[in-house]
Amino acid sequence: MLAGSLLAAGALIASPTSANAAVACEVTYAKTWDGGGGFGANVTIKNLGDALSNWTLTFAFPNSQRVTSGWTAEWSQSGANVTARSMSYNGSQAKGASWTIGFNGSYSGSNNNPTSFAINGVTCNGQPGPNPTPTVTPTPSVTPTVTPTPSVTPTVTPTPTVTPTGPPPAHVDNPYAGATGYVNPDWSAKAAAEPGGSAVAQNSTGVWIDRIAAINGTSTARGVRAHLDEAVKQDAANGSTPLTIQFVVYNLPNRDCSALASNGELKISENGLARYKTEYIDPIAAILGDAKYRALRIVTVVEIDSLPNLVTNTNLAACAEAKSSGAYVEGVQYALNKLHAIGNVYTYVDAGHHGWLGWDSNFGPSAQLFASTVRGTTAGFASVDGFITNTANYSALIEPHFTINSTVNGTSVRQSKWVDWNYYVDEQSYAQAFRQRLVSEGFNSNIGMLIDTSRNGWGGSARPAGPSTDTSSVDAFVNKSRVDRRIHAGNWCNQSGAGLGERPKASPAAGIDAYVWIKPPGESDGASKEIPNDEGKGFDRMCDPTYGGNERNGNNPTGALPDAPIAGQWFSAQFRELLANAYPAVR
Ligand code: BGC
Repeated sequence: MLAGSLLAAGALIASPTSANAAVACEVTYAKTWDGGGGFGANVTIKNLGDALSNWTLTFAFPNSQRVTSGWTAEWSQSGANVTARSMSYNGSQAKGASWTIGFNGSYSGSNNNPTSFAINGVTCNGQPGPNPTPTVTPTPSVTPTVTPTPSVTPTVTPTPTVTPTGPPPAHVDNPYAGATGYVNPDWSAKAAAEPGGSAVAQNSTGVWIDRIAAINGTSTARGVRAHLDEAVKQDAANGSTPLTIQFVVYNLPNRDCSALASNGELKISENGLARYKTEYIDPIAAILGDAKYRALRIVTVVEIDSLPNLVTNTNLAACAEAKSSGAYVEGVQYALNKLHAIGNVYTYVDAGHHGWLGWDSNFGPSAQLFASTVRGTTAGFASVDGFITNTANYSALIEPHFTINSTVNGTSVRQSKWVDWNYYVDEQSYAQAFRQRLVSEGFNSNIGMLIDTSRNGWGGSARPAGPSTDTSSVDAFVNKSRVDRRIHAGNWCNQSGAGLGERPKASPAAGIDAYVWIKPPGESDGASKEIPNDEGKGFDRMCDPTYGGNERNGNNPTGALPDAPIAGQWFSAQFRELLANAYPAVR
């Protein structure tokens, strides 16, 4: 799997007397993963010649390979010929410097390594250029600086106070693999202050950038830089294990267009899209792109509920406007363009949950909308690392006592009121199927899914221990067998009876990059009554336990806990219940 150095014959060296800098280089090409028609590779370039102010690497694939996404360089391909041009931040490279760029690709048949590479048109043969300085000792066979596994250990060990030098760590396939998660000290302190809460307070939770003011920080929450500085400290305290920090990018104009609890500060009719770009995304990208954070793996969860609302909820005025104006699509594209351009940032786009998009009428159209949106970004499908499902929702990860194929006296569980003709009974089966559908719509075959398991545990005494013996009707069987104890799968606000779900975990199942805790457990989904606030948050009656519901939950009671504060604020009673009903149980 590991190529050595490539020593091409007949190398041309630029004239020593010309004004042009002498170019000499050595290139190591190393696959990082290979399987199922997809692969990834790191290309480490060593500058053996004069200092470069920018560089262009060229090589040709020997087989049918295509670059599908690349990082830390501008990648393009024409026929078999691949070009990778330097970025603004890594164009200048001193004599003796080496740096790594990488890409993911596809192929059919053979996947042999390319055998000749050139920098700025000069073939790399491992020899120093004219006038070599004694400090550069080219080695004929280069030891790769990157371990060729899908989880790459960064070659840079950052310290909190010093900007790292040397090559940035490669953009890996799964940023969670082999990494530890950032512990948000503010959430952790609140969790630890609850009885028994310290047992879970060291879990990594999402940091929500839920308004412009959250970028620099507010009186109640530290800002993005402060989190990243803290993450650098946690990373340094952690030996060579990389650290993953998760931010939720959540401030589109007309945000939360089908509900009220998480309405935001920007409105499409008040120039919200332009403000989203310049006052929100641009400053976030400027901070995340700071070189002192480049050893961190920065995961971004992009705009919860936005694109799915364009598929299912355009009968509501705010969603119709989000669609007709193009503001959601353009906003998501803008965010992806800015975020993908930063080599150590990973993008996961929101993909709803099974109780929303799991019907055929929503599943395919959602996948198509995601594909057309992402195709319209500068880097196309390469700008997305994956998707996330169940963010801040309560759908059970796995229903252990029946599947979508189960029947009761010959009647499919799909005909029960609970499943209601959905094609999925739980979140993991939905996420895996949706991943495949996305790939068939054109997304890269190595995209991975995240599932928010912060509050979908459904343990405690109400959890059925096995399939029910009541087969008097399909409804009786499903209602007595399901671990998801909600009144209706369309209920989403501060659900009574819920528990903490699977703890954050990398690579837990096929196609799943990680179980994550994006919604910080203990933070409210919305106020149970009208509470004035300056965050744009409204009062959604789905958070009111006395409300009889709407068409999106089949006009059922909401199942919401009483006395909840506005969305995002600490809700002690909910945290305590989540802890008590955790599944797996917390010990
Ligand atoms: C709220 C955000 C909050 C997030 C995490 C959302 O429902 O709208 O303000 O940061 O939940 O708790």
